[in-house]
Amino acid sequence: MSGFSADWLRLREPVDLAARNDLVEDAFVSALPKGQVRLLDLASGAGSTVAALSARLGASQNWLLTDNDPALLEVSGQRFSRFGQGAVACRQVDLAGDLASLPFVNVDGVTTSAFLDLVTPPFLEQLVGLVTAARLPFLASLTYDGRASCTPADPFDEDIRQAMNAHQKTDKGFGAALGPDAAAAAEALFEAAGYRVVSGPSDWHTDRNAPAFQRELISGWVSAGSDMGLDPDRLSHWLERRTEQIAEGALAIAVGHRDMAAIPR
Ligand SMILES: C[S@@+](CC[C@H](N)C(=O)[O-])C[C@H]1O[C@@H](n2cnc3c(N)ncnc32)[C@H](O)[C@@H]1O
Repeated sequence: MSGFSADWLRLREPVDLAARNDLVEDAFVSALPKGQVRLLDLASGAGSTVAALSARLGASQNWLLTDNDPALLEVSGQRFSRFGQGAVACRQVDLAGDLASLPFVNVDGVTTSAFLDLVTPPFLEQLVGLVTAARLPFLASLTYDGRASCTPADPFDEDIRQAMNAHQKTDKGFGAALGPDAAAAAEALFEAAGYRVVSGPSDWHTDRNAPAFQRELISGWVSAGSDMGLDPDRLSHWLERRTEQIAEGALAIAVGHRDMAAIPR
């Protein structure tokens, strides 16, 4: 399963939905106009932000979903066809080069989820510049913040967490990524632009109810650990122990995220 495959995004969506910070989403939704709302979602994947927000918005909502992966856009297009003609439009775009081509001046708000940790400081500055120039409210959900823990704990967990966090800062298609620094960087940029920022945790908490998700998650950690040069034997023994615990329903995993709404004053 690739980092952004439809299968992985399907596994993580219920965990994401449970993790999203209600107070942050309330702040964003309150800043939108009443009545018809037009939203631009960046790096939409399979449409998780629509799934999270549509019930909170009125009957008249128009979404423009953007991603560079046509297979994920296809999933979104089919998934939200019930919304009616034109209500959810999809656009294939490489955000690394073509962010400024998007219609920031023709929407009422901008959203994204599980994306800001992939981008670079210059990209984030460009994004904040486009959003604030158009005086739009902005919602960034589920930005990874570097915290991760397993219960029961294992002596090798911390090596893996550190390797994973170093891996998060490698190039994810935009240049050296902000990784766990992204949420704080985004908050600082919006505050410097005079926006009001409402932020809070949106941590994943998974247990025996999500074994397939847990297996994929730790397999991603082991792959990142391997890329960052951790000892292959230690990695495979750790994975074996953790896989047994998942099979027994004995593993809990928490992963730290931040949600942020940035609102023009
Ligand atoms: C972790 S997924 C999050 C997807 C979705 N927002 C969610 O919360 O489920 C990151 C998304 O960023 C998209 N992405 C990565 N690089 C991109 C780029 N250069 N241009 C457009 N989309 C990109 C991926 O295709 C993927 O859908």
